[in-house]
Amino acid sequence: MGQKQQEQWTSKLGFILAAAGSAIGLGAIWKLPYVAGTSGGGAFFLIFLLFTIFLGLPLLLAEFTIGRHTQKEAVSAYRTIAPGSFWHWIGKLGVGTSFLLLSFYSVVGGWIVIYLARSFTQGVQGLEVNQFGQMFEETISNPFLVVFAHFIFLLMTILVVQGGVQKGIERFSKIMMPALFILFLIIVIRSVTLEGASEGIQFFLMPDFSSITGETILFALGQAFFALSLGVSIMVTYSSYLKSGESLPKSAVSIVSLTIFISLLAGLAIFPAVFSFGLEPAEGPPLIFIVLPAVFSSIPLGNIFFILFMSLLLFATLTSAFSLLEMVVASITKNDAAKRKKATWVAGILIFIMGIPSALSFGVMSGVSFFGHSFFDLMDFLVSNVMLPLGALLIAIFTPLKLKKDALYEEMRRGSSLKRVMFDIWYILIKYVTPIAIIIVFLHVLGAFDLF
Ligand code: TRP
Repeated sequence: MGQKQQEQWTSKLGFILAAAGSAIGLGAIWKLPYVAGTSGGGAFFLIFLLFTIFLGLPLLLAEFTIGRHTQKEAVSAYRTIAPGSFWHWIGKLGVGTSFLLLSFYSVVGGWIVIYLARSFTQGVQGLEVNQFGQMFEETISNPFLVVFAHFIFLLMTILVVQGGVQKGIERFSKIMMPALFILFLIIVIRSVTLEGASEGIQFFLMPDFSSITGETILFALGQAFFALSLGVSIMVTYSSYLKSGESLPKSAVSIVSLTIFISLLAGLAIFPAVFSFGLEPAEGPPLIFIVLPAVFSSIPLGNIFFILFMSLLLFATLTSAFSLLEMVVASITKNDAAKRKKATWVAGILIFIMGIPSALSFGVMSGVSFFGHSFFDLMDFLVSNVMLPLGALLIAIFTPLKLKKDALYEEMRRGSSLKRVMFDIWYILIKYVTPIAIIIVFLHVLGAFDLF
């Protein structure tokens, strides 16, 4: 093994839990409802599903295959496969994207920290829906509070990642993930039985095709990659910590199914309640922070459920944040464990600084606009709708171009009984369908923005 101790998952389950932990987070739970709410509801969700299955799943499998094949973190992985070329820039783009993504992701993580801390002293019961709206606004416009919470969230992330991701993730995920699903089911049951809930179910599940715009399609594409943690090569890095034995196709299918399922639960938890309480679905980033407390306030033992839910949401958010910081750290340390601690702190502190303007976007900096967006929205747009699809496009081009078809098939079959037809379908999807679809969406959007 040499003096450079290589990171490794300690159990078979560790890898799948960590990859699922990276995928399931704010993307499915916080971002999906608010983006669906602002861009087309059911039509958005349908397009998101199609992108997730036909582009996301093949890409996830491609990232897994590259990682396990090379046994190297992302930048070195591309360098090993295509030495002396510019392809390792896919990995560097991924590191930059992760850096920016975590800077605003951690701001929302901070909001969860605030809500969790507050839930112990101040219950949700007995409050009206508009009071939750007001409470949220007061919270996120307090500059010290949001920056401090952003710091606390990153601190937790740093403390876990500096010791190596596996220890932090494997132990807890086994209990936390199933608990999160159960709690979500309880919320969904309450939400869909509220008066007037059917309008919300309809909004979320009945596609109104007339509402589809170029933006809807671009956002659905960004959402599919965001929710599955694709396009930044984090799944390359995670699967490089895998010795072998694990079935990559099976892991990819379970992660995609879990992500779709939790996205569905999130939508069904939020929209029925939105309509029942007479709120606007296009509330934007604050949506779940206003709607969910209101749902809990109408459930017996709501205060306790609220504390539980916020703890689980924080956990799900942290496991995603670990992966983002890990991506940056692994690119610096290149598997050299001796450098890990320092690299984690340096990266973490820089991400903290980068995130401050995002944290202030809903308060003191709300008047500052960049191309008509707040700093937070600009970051989110840049990352989700430009950098992630671009990264995904490059990975889709790279994989069949630089790896031989037989080598890919062989790597994918290690630990799995993948049939040749399935492999061939995957190959067509990654080689033709994915890049062409992403390019079409990009061109369409550029056209819509009148840049030509
Ligand atoms: N998938 C995570 C979520 O939905 C966010 C995330 C973690 C991510 N790592 C990523 C998104 C890498 C894109 C790329 O909350």
